[in-house]
Amino acid sequence: MRREILLIDGHPDPDSAHLDHALAEAYVRGAESAGHAIRRLRVAELDFPLLRSKADFDTGTPPDDIVAAQRGIAAADHLVIVFPLWLGGMPALLKGFLEQVFRPDFAFDLEKGPMGGRLKGKSARVIVTMGMPALAYRWYYRAHSLKSLERNILKFAGIEPIRDSLYGMVEGVSDETRQRWLDEMEKLGKAGR
Ligand SMILES: Cc1cc2nc3c(=O)[nH]c(=O)nc-3n(C[C@H](O)[C@H](O)[C@H](O)COP(=O)(O)O)c2cc1C
Repeated sequence: MRREILLIDGHPDPDSAHLDHALAEAYVRGAESAGHAIRRLRVAELDFPLLRSKADFDTGTPPDDIVAAQRGIAAADHLVIVFPLWLGGMPALLKGFLEQVFRPDFAFDLEKGPMGGRLKGKSARVIVTMGMPALAYRWYYRAHSLKSLERNILKFAGIEPIRDSLYGMVEGVSDETRQRWLDEMEKLGKAGR
């Protein structure tokens, strides 16, 4: 089945040497080779300020780059979000982006609570890289920041199912393991999952 995919590359540093960009690229390559329609959005290249008030969140006019991102999300049936774990969670720039994008009039009807998601019918994959072993993040730290993204932002907006790919001990990883991860991403891209 041909899918409309939006990949959100949440690494704050545009330097192409980063593993996250390579994982994103491999996913895009796989998706394109299988005929999916995929667009990539690089948060590092967008122009937006931090959201600073509930009034802005509720009724403000989002900056142009945020409106374009909302359109991209609305048009997609599958979202892929890639980020490095920084201080136990997503980088502040990505959180700032999500606060701008997931405004009530776009993402949720707050009066209806958890049933008020406006983005139903879309699935997602979250890809996280980290210095610690992925098992330690998942089982010792209970993947708290991943769960927060999944439950409090994506599922709250009606997006599910949500799958994840965690890559740990990424610093100084061997070429062989890195290639295996890239192959894995390409396969997921091909499958549109
Ligand atoms: C500011 C900062 C904070 C970090 N905090 C964590 C952390 O809390 N836990 C962890 O396992 N790794 C942490 N790391 C390591 C990054 O997750 C790792 O460098 C990144 O996933 C590598 O991917 P990249 O090459 O795409 O940047 C941190 C790195 C930076 C720069």
